Amino acid sequence: MIELRVNGGVHRVDPAVGRSLAETLREDLGLTGTKVACGEGHCGACTVQLDGVPVLSCITLVHTVRAREVTTIEGLRDHPLVESFVRADALQCGFCTPGQIVSAAALVEANPEPSRDEIRHAMAGNLCRCGAYPKIEEAVLTWRG
Ligand code: FES
Ligand code: FES
Repeated sequence: MIELRVNGGVHRVDPAVGRSLAETLREDLGLTGTKVACGEGHCGACTVQLDGVPVLSCITLVHTVRAREVTTIEGLRDHPLVESFVRADALQCGFCTPGQIVSAAALVEANPEPSRDEIRHAMAGNLCRCGAYPKIEEAVLTWRG
């Protein structure tokens, strides 16, 4: 049994050895906002923050995150980036969007006025099959409205 700190709450879970953080979030805690696409650390769909730093939850073993703060898209529901993504129409299918917002939130926390290059660099690991990159960039540039 381990304690997980997620979005300000504490959860006790008993995961099998080798279970990923993404599986635990989605299947044990019901936090399905975190998406799994490739499941191999290539696409960024499963991005969550660990102590404020973006990580790929599909390749993060849940046993390695005890005593650290996990932030998922559900914990960012009131972040201004959510509104700026809507305003900029920065999504099509929306599957990559939670991971995009989680990465962008970590970026603007560290650097509230990122340049286009800084946005591209910080979010290079978040792929969008719909090709919404220009609008995603616009959403992050204008995140404060
Ligand atoms: S689902 Fe984790 S990186 Fe693709
Ligand atoms: S909006 Fe469809 S993958 Fe990005």
